[in-house]
Amino acid sequence: MFSFQHDIDLSPLTTFHIPAKARLYAEYSNLRELTHISRQPEFCDNEVLHIGGGSNLLFMHDFDGLVLHSAMRDIKMYEKDKDTIYVIADGGLPWTEFIDWCLDNGLSGMENLAGIPGEVGAAPVQNVGAYGVEAKDIIWSVECFDVTTRTTVRLTPDQCQFGYRWSRFKGEWKGGYFVLRVAFRLQRSQRAANLSYAALASLPERLGHYPTPREVADEVIRLRNSKLPDPALIGSAGSFFKNPEVHPYFFKEEIEPFFPEMPFYETPEGQIKLSAAWLIDHAGLKGERIGGAYVYSQQPLVIANDGTATADDVARLAELVYRKVRITFGIPLTREVNYIDTDIRVTVLGSGTSKGVPEIGCLCHVCTSDAPYDKRLRASVLVQTHDMKILIDASPDFRQQALTHDIHHLDAILITHSHYDHVGGLDDLRPLLGDRTELPIYVRSDVDGDLRRRLDYCFRPTLYPGVPHLQLKVIDDRPFFIHGLKIIPIEVHHGKLPIYGYRIGDFAYLTDVKTIDEDQLDKLEGVRVLIINALRWTPEHFAHLTVDEALAIIERLHPERAYLTHFCHNAGTHAELEQRLPPNVRPLYDGLTFTV
Ligand code: EPU
Repeated sequence: MFSFQHDIDLSPLTTFHIPAKARLYAEYSNLRELTHISRQPEFCDNEVLHIGGGSNLLFMHDFDGLVLHSAMRDIKMYEKDKDTIYVIADGGLPWTEFIDWCLDNGLSGMENLAGIPGEVGAAPVQNVGAYGVEAKDIIWSVECFDVTTRTTVRLTPDQCQFGYRWSRFKGEWKGGYFVLRVAFRLQRSQRAANLSYAALASLPERLGHYPTPREVADEVIRLRNSKLPDPALIGSAGSFFKNPEVHPYFFKEEIEPFFPEMPFYETPEGQIKLSAAWLIDHAGLKGERIGGAYVYSQQPLVIANDGTATADDVARLAELVYRKVRITFGIPLTREVNYIDTDIRVTVLGSGTSKGVPEIGCLCHVCTSDAPYDKRLRASVLVQTHDMKILIDASPDFRQQALTHDIHHLDAILITHSHYDHVGGLDDLRPLLGDRTELPIYVRSDVDGDLRRRLDYCFRPTLYPGVPHLQLKVIDDRPFFIHGLKIIPIEVHHGKLPIYGYRIGDFAYLTDVKTIDEDQLDKLEGVRVLIINALRWTPEHFAHLTVDEALAIIERLHPERAYLTHFCHNAGTHAELEQRLPPNVRPLYDGLTFTV
């Protein structure tokens, strides 16, 4: 029977072997136990992370939540006919045991994936791949636990949308499904299934006969051992970055003429795939080191731990690699390793009301103040976890805000309401969108209607080249997840207009509030850091809180810290506000950053 364990050391559960603790940890041995766990307060009230073999995880610090792990390790097979075999393996079974079991049973199809660290449950999440084969080539179906409904679902490869080191489990399904078991479709054969990878193609000649699956598995393990560190001896997460894919036009114009010796491969989808190891090597990064983390010389795609590395060493070295490759070749690398961090970093992009401060043409002492804190762009914040950047509202000042804060990538946008000062910057998202249509913009249904009318040119059946592809996702006030991060919409009233604020973990952002109903205030219980709007001290405003009204809400919610935002010039200078506000309430200013 399972039990919740406290303050568990995670270093043996990850291949980086960097010390970190989980506040709560539980293992389940069957579906009944998992269902039971999912009903406990330890599960419902905490951030939950389901781990496999920990071969792609970097815990940035102790994990302030529940880490779950499958102890289900069963494996069986069904014979469809004399050649086709379905092997059904539990998520907690180590991948290498799965490969050995298949080899012992005379199966083929999986042999190129020998030696990969991790567990069966991670294979579909990551679509693991090596030596010409990807997990998607052999996966028949994936049986999952649906966290929301507490039922099991069987998903087809089509539904999983497998791509290079990618599946929906890493995107919109993150945190929503736990992989229970995977069904693989293999052949009963003594002939290896795939010798397409250059280093394997010569095997028949070298052996003097067509190789068996076991001979290919042995060769793959030999190749891996010659390049990759032994996970038992040297901590690492295998490939730290993905091999980048670029558009053929970009490659022909911007890369090939300058770096004719750069290796490249054309993908079946017509993209050009480059070798991240080559880029890192030729940016002169082999052996580069920060603290106890270093770029592994035999395979520079690997960042290794000399036994003393901290997560910060690894993250700083990865940042250095990213920057040097970008400067040398103009190519951005994408991380394959997941940074696990329960901290939320907030950057204030704007703290002013709809006209901003200073107001055009105004000569009051606030608008003419030289103090940088008295320059207030239109209200917006950037919320960052180690893995994601989420923008709340796209203000008409977004371009300037993005340039100031070097925002060149976003994972999602949350919109509070459709007033111009909160959405006027949507068109300026173009440089961040490129060909991407998958940047989700979460909106209420009324905002969806308003934006489709107002920005009608972005929603026509045939689009003018270069218009932003806005992917609006309609939400209601139920919690939803962005890549595993729980977002709780809070409905507030902006005068008569219902709009949303958002709670993310212990942080909440409320702008343009006049009133909040009791049931929505309940959703804010326990918030540690609150940003809430306050237009000015007096007179009252029909749609915005005054400072005193905002202070009354703060007193009711008693967060550790509260910040006021959405000021107009009548609120006074920042220095005046600093003096008049109680000690636990600070005026927000543009550029402030803090961690929750
Ligand atoms: N190279 C250099 N300098 C070096 C070493 C290598 O330029 O010092 C070049 C080689 O010349 C070659 C390339 O880098 O062009 C290395 O290619 P290789 O086939 O060894 O592997 P990779 O493309 O770097 C990918 C996977 C590995 C997988 C191998 C084999 C990714 C991110 N990585 O690496 O997966 O084992 O192919 O199929 O796709 C993992 O995911 O953890 C992993 C190890």
